[in-house]
Order: sequence, then structure tokens, then C-alpha cells
Amino acid sequence: MIKIPFNKPGFVGNEQAYMAQAVANGQISGDGEFTRRCHAFLEHELGVAKALLTTSCTHALEMAALLLDIQPGDEVIVPSFTFVSTINAFVLRGARPVFADIRPDTLNLDETRLERLITPRTKAIVPVHYAGVGCEMDAILAIAARHGVPVVEDNAHGLLGRYKGRWLGTFGCLATQSFHETKNFTCGEGGALLINDPRFIERAEILREKGTNRSQMFRGQVDKYSWIDLGSSYLPSDLLAAFLLAQFESRDHIQAQRRRIWEFYAARLGDWALQHHVSLPFVPEQCEQPFHMFYMLMPSLAARQALIDHLKTKGILAVFHYLPLHLSVMGRQFGGQSGNCPVTESVSDRLVRLPFYIALSEKDQERVVTAILECPATK
Ligand SMILES: Cc1ncc(COP(=O)(O)O)c(C=O)c1O
Repeated sequence: MIKIPFNKPGFVGNEQAYMAQAVANGQISGDGEFTRRCHAFLEHELGVAKALLTTSCTHALEMAALLLDIQPGDEVIVPSFTFVSTINAFVLRGARPVFADIRPDTLNLDETRLERLITPRTKAIVPVHYAGVGCEMDAILAIAARHGVPVVEDNAHGLLGRYKGRWLGTFGCLATQSFHETKNFTCGEGGALLINDPRFIERAEILREKGTNRSQMFRGQVDKYSWIDLGSSYLPSDLLAAFLLAQFESRDHIQAQRRRIWEFYAARLGDWALQHHVSLPFVPEQCEQPFHMFYMLMPSLAARQALIDHLKTKGILAVFHYLPLHLSVMGRQFGGQSGNCPVTESVSDRLVRLPFYIALSEKDQERVVTAILECPATK
């Protein structure tokens, strides 16, 4: 029986009261008071031109693909080591994925191998800030600018992380956030599109409202709304926004807890990792991480599996992460082959993520650490 799960949603206090208030307000559809307050929080904290809540990060990525007017045959560069939505949102518009390998230290898109992947058909570069540790944005933006290619940051993990003092999510013309249950801030399922290039704001509001100018009508800019563009229903209920606002407002508490958990693992596992050829997460000096996850890179697939199995016998759930996208059924249809992204292939086999949630007690964390230290497979 699992006694220490991998994730538990963290409830911080005001979620239910705010949801009750949304009910009392008489608006539980999208873009009510709580959605506006979430938008204001993100815009104020991050300094982005516009934030729009969405039903998921996946949907925010789909909006990005629509905003960039991705057409069949266009190429989009993504790391192979990411969640399927990073690229699927673009493939839905007909794009051809171009998979980049990752750096062995941060597990982020390897900027030194990026430029050679660019062709005249490249229409977007979508870096992922893995575990909320910033990609080498200076290099990526310089390459993108040289070729006139827009950058969309998949910042699903990285809200409140920084690169060279600047918030992740503020570098690309667009960026996407996730508020899925596994993320630092959650409403169960949710996301946001961050818009840094104001030229996208008006159309983004239309795409999010089923291709209509309904948002303009609510602001009194037009007297009736109609169908004027492509679109879908990308806005979440105000009930979810109410839940999310409570989480945003507990930002200091949530981040302090997550920091405590991350630092405990790092301190207690550091020596063991060195002795056993295990790598712990690397956070470059220019990056401030938001303590989204704690992973370890084991020396081999066999050692990784043995550790997961051993922890399971102790009632502890540790999990691996992304499988290389270029080797997936879909990735192979686009020409992906073994050996294309060797770092991704190796990391995917060896990575294990440890239980990480704000209610994780020091006692339970100690159990996790003890179980790891006594694992026979790594002795
Ligand atoms: C890097 C990355 N992008 C996008 C997503 C999709 O997020 P969502 O579940 O909010 O659609 C995930 C999911 O965890 C992710 O890890």
C-alpha cells in the first residue's frame, strides 16, 4: 500500500470560501471577478502585458499555435524531453515537429544545438523550463532573433522561477502556465497564456471566446458580439479561478514549504549521490528555481527501476517522467529514430522524481531518504 504518494494537492485555506463567494456572486461561468483577480495577480507579479486564464496549459499552447498562425508544413522546434502538449498543440495546426536534444545538466533544450535545426520553414521555438529552472534564454533569444522566429515559453513548471533576475514567462512573445494538480499553484486543471507582445492581445481574447468578440462587448467596445475568427472555449469557470486565487494569495506559504522540501532532499542525499554516481538537480547561478520538483538521475535504467521498486515496497511512490517524444508512435511518424537525441534518451531512462507536495512532513521525507539510502540496488 502506498503511504507516501508522489503528489497530493495542497489546500491552503481560502479555496472553499472563495468558491462560495463566486456562487454568491451569481457568476460561475468564465471571466468573472475571480478570473479578473487572477489575471491582475499574474500581470502585476510578472509584469506581463496580459495574462489570460485557460482551461489548461495544453489549451494555452493551442492558443499560441493559433496566434502564430501555424500552417500545415510549418516546423516547430521543441525539446524531445517534454510533455506531449508542448508539440501536439502545434501539430494540431499541421506543424511538423523538430525535436531538439537537451543539456545533460539542466535537462533544458540544448541551445548549442538549436541553430542547426532552423530552416526557412521554422515558425516557432518552444523551450521548456524543466523543473522551473530557466533555459539559456539569452542564447535562445539571440538565435531566434537572428532568424526572425518567435519564441513561446512552455513555462508549465516555472511560475515564479527567474533567469538572470527576470521572471520565466516574460521572455517569449507568448508563454504558457499550468495549474494542474501537480503544479505549485493549482485549481485541479487549469492554465494561463501570458502575452508579452501586446500585438497578440486582441486576437487572443477572441480565440479564447470561441472566435467571437464577446470580451469587447462586455467592455462596451461593441454593442453585440459575433463570429469573427477561429477559436474555441478556452476560458475556465470562475469557480476554478476562485480556487486558484486562494492559492496565488498563499504564494509565500506555498513557496516556503516547497523550498523546505527541496532543500531537505538536497542536503540529505548529496553525499550519497556523490558516492553512488547519482546526479541531483543542477541549478545554474543565473537561475532562481521555484522548487517545482526534486529528481535524481540514476546511473542506469536498471538502477532507476530497482530504486522505484524498492521504494514501492516501503509504501513510497517515486515516478519517472517524460518518454522521448521523438521515439513515441507519433514522433516516429515524423521521422524520429533511436539515437537522434542521445541525452534525452539516456535521461528519460534514468530519471526518477521523489514525492513532493506541501503537506509532506519532515518525518515522511526522512522515511523517503532512509529508504533510498538503504536501497540494495545502489549499494
Ligand atoms: C512541460 C509541460 N507542458 C505542458 C503540460 C500540460 O499541462 P496541462 O495539464 O495544464 O495541460 C505539462 C503537464 O504537466 C508539462 O509538463
